[in-house]
Amino acid sequence: MKAIMLNAYGGAENLSLGEVETPQVGPDDVLLKVKYAGVRWGDIMAREGRPSKARPTPFVMGQEASGVVEAVGANVTKWKPGDRAMATPPGGAFAEYVAAPAAALMPVPEGVDLKQVLAYPVNLRTAYLAVYTWAKVAEGERVLVHTAAGGVGLLLVQILKRRFENVTVVGLTSTDEKAEIVRANGADHVINYKTTDYVEDIERIFGPKASGFAALGERGGGVDVSLNGVSGSTMDTDPKVIRKRGRWVLYGYIGGRGQLNLAPIGYDGITIMPFSCLAWAGTPDWTAAQRFVRDWIQNEELIEPTVFPLEQGAEAVRAFEDGSTWGKVVLEA
Ligand SMILES: NC(=O)c1ccc[n+]([C@@H]2O[C@H](COP(=O)([O-])OP(=O)(O)OC[C@H]3O[C@@H](n4cnc5c(N)ncnc54)[C@H](OP(=O)(O)O)[C@@H]3O)[C@@H](O)[C@H]2O)c1
Repeated sequence: MKAIMLNAYGGAENLSLGEVETPQVGPDDVLLKVKYAGVRWGDIMAREGRPSKARPTPFVMGQEASGVVEAVGANVTKWKPGDRAMATPPGGAFAEYVAAPAAALMPVPEGVDLKQVLAYPVNLRTAYLAVYTWAKVAEGERVLVHTAAGGVGLLLVQILKRRFENVTVVGLTSTDEKAEIVRANGADHVINYKTTDYVEDIERIFGPKASGFAALGERGGGVDVSLNGVSGSTMDTDPKVIRKRGRWVLYGYIGGRGQLNLAPIGYDGITIMPFSCLAWAGTPDWTAAQRFVRDWIQNEELIEPTVFPLEQGAEAVRAFEDGSTWGKVVLEA
């Protein structure tokens, strides 16, 4: 079968289209005929060997796929050939077939498009946990969303504007075209962080942030919450826009690890809240997130993804990484 291979840990130049054996189905596995595979930041991390280089190269890239069940292992009773499903295996999804543990599959409801559905299992779970479980965003709050046109970012904007009545959303993105998309999804303010200083812009929007002994009232300017999957240089700038006693949710490192300067954060009493979805694996919050994802897929208007053919997997990953895509990017097998 055709597959996008990672030949050595490193940059996008180490990805190539190859021919490999169709995977064997273990007793607890399901073999999925892949229709679409989703690209996400986790692929960039896996390619660079983060968090670990334990898996020997070469291997097939890809951590999410949707398609039709082709075969099931001897112990699998919940799935049968012909079922529509999406899977989140640890690798192997950028291929014509992927084998995944039956427990890593979710059904795709009738009438839901196999290419649209991939925007949700991981990204929406992350967005749900960020908004509800961790930040506990409340009505009346102001929320800053980084990479607001991205896979997780756009869903954060959608949750905040579709499921809350009175949350003010500031979205950051890097092009005017993407800014338009973020605005069309309901963000109240959209800032192109490449052409404007977002710290100055947020001060213009909400007024100066209260700091030190300044008597600017209980709240002052700034945002109540920042939802940040970037880190990097924003580790320095975000504390300048999060109000006193605000919450700083850090869920990714697209911009690098960055440096944390604790003194100004401490003076303002900002709560630093890093997280990974894995922190809730197997808990009732995880189950609630899965339920939220299922409900959303069935009831909400879904995002139309950008589609690349599987053969152009390396180009798709490159475009995703250099910021020239928006929303969800999928490969069509
Ligand atoms: N905590 C968890 O459990 C969990 C789960 C899933 C994902 N994540 C994290 O969530 C984040 C978003 O993932 P995603 O798959 O939705 O990716 P994404 O946001 O769709 O990533 C692509 C976007 O990142 C932005 N970008 C690229 N390079 C950048 C840079 N150097 N600095 C700032 N922004 C840059 C660009 O958006 P702009 O042009 O708008 O800047 C680009 O369109 C990642 O950090 C990922 O690791 C975490």
